[in-house]
Amino acid sequence: MEISAFLIAAAVFFVLLGAIWSVVAVVKLRKKHPETLWDWSKIDISDLSFPKNFIWGTATAAHQVEGHNTNNNWSRWEESFDKKGRPRIQNGDKSGRAADHYNLYRDDIARMKDELGVDSYRFSLEWSRIEPEPGKYDQNEIKHYHGMFDALLEAGIKPMPTLHHFTHPIWFDDLGSFEHEKNLEHFFRFSELCFKEYGGKAKYWCTHNEPGPFATMGWALGVFPPGVKNYKRLGQVLHNLMRSHLGVYQRIKALPGGNEAQVGLVKNMFQFDPYRRWSPLHWLICRISDGIYNESILGFLRDGVFRYHFPGISKIYQEHPEAKGATDFIGLNYYSNLLISPLAKQEPPFKPLIRKGQVLTDMPYATYPEGFYRALTKLKELERPIIVTENGVPDAKDDFIREDYIRRYLYAMSEAIKDGADVRGFYYWTLMDNFEWAFGNSMKFGLYEVNPETMERRLRNGSKAFVEIIAQHKKDHE
Ligand code: GCO
Repeated sequence: MEISAFLIAAAVFFVLLGAIWSVVAVVKLRKKHPETLWDWSKIDISDLSFPKNFIWGTATAAHQVEGHNTNNNWSRWEESFDKKGRPRIQNGDKSGRAADHYNLYRDDIARMKDELGVDSYRFSLEWSRIEPEPGKYDQNEIKHYHGMFDALLEAGIKPMPTLHHFTHPIWFDDLGSFEHEKNLEHFFRFSELCFKEYGGKAKYWCTHNEPGPFATMGWALGVFPPGVKNYKRLGQVLHNLMRSHLGVYQRIKALPGGNEAQVGLVKNMFQFDPYRRWSPLHWLICRISDGIYNESILGFLRDGVFRYHFPGISKIYQEHPEAKGATDFIGLNYYSNLLISPLAKQEPPFKPLIRKGQVLTDMPYATYPEGFYRALTKLKELERPIIVTENGVPDAKDDFIREDYIRRYLYAMSEAIKDGADVRGFYYWTLMDNFEWAFGNSMKFGLYEVNPETMERRLRNGSKAFVEIIAQHKKDHE
């Protein structure tokens, strides 16, 4: 009798203790990760200010715009089907001719110069063109990219190349790409070749584009090649991508001209915010997701440690002292946050949860300029200049939200700069409508709309806000 009373009392005590502990934890988490939301009716979005030599640009990626890429992991993926016989890409789309930028780049550069007035252009070098077979280089393709660099420089537009933007040659994919550390040597060799060829023509170099999305889409959600769903392998891929960034960084630095180059990683940030901010379970999922998607990468550059933890499945902790600070700038790709609930569907196609005032974009996320402010502020911890390497909106409904999006996100960036974020440049994603990976041709991110039959480009009405803001900034600093 007495013993059972004691047991009941002990159980009540521990339950209460647990409850108090969770409440304290939730209070602390809420304070540490506020989900900032501004009252836009009280904000003057024309109140913008950017530093004097701020770089304005626009960005693309080879496979999404060039057309006729037939020898990389994505061209193969576009031809393949899942276990149920469904095409991998929405509507069975293929990149095909894309925006034919490979042939039309000169006209596109003229548009950037004459219509947009941008200072810089971020694009990627298609590895499968330059090295179609291991160790065999295609001189015509090397020349092709020289043509692009030269045309940009002639137009007074600074080229910003990316070495890996989601695509690599089929032969590299067959080796298991970034899943195996030993494969990195191939990518290092390619990167060195690019820097030797084009290093004199570009100051800013991006190593990997978005290790987070590339790895999670390919190895956890299975919607990008190689279509794997395995959190243990995901950890290895992320780890190797960071090793790869570090290896490229060190190799470029060791080459003539390397010290003058600015070499950086491009990091996509999505904040994982709990849908119910009082729920310990919501917080738990968010913190685990953030650890995998954001912290694994930031911690590598900030502390020189790679940490990855998927509870019960995989845990990696490895020190890489030389990785600390091994990025001359940090590229930020920012679109939105993700509101997380354990009740929401965990498989694509996702139905995003949204807060009042947020507007759904055509992608499964809503507008969240305040999150852009948060991401820029967060990146201060790396103590490196920040360059916004991507930000933009898919808006097929004839500019339903594009103008507001541009104005509000640029306002948020201006506020972050006022509050001490060292932001050196902003690249709008993207120059023209393109092939949006698993979403195929349905996403209209372009400043320019592209007619798929004639390839004609038309500047969208909503894009004019971007042109105007650049022109105003230049006028202010004349
Ligand atoms: C990415 C890539 C781009 C996308 C863009 C829009 O973020 O996935 O860098 O290639 O097209 O971000 O989703």
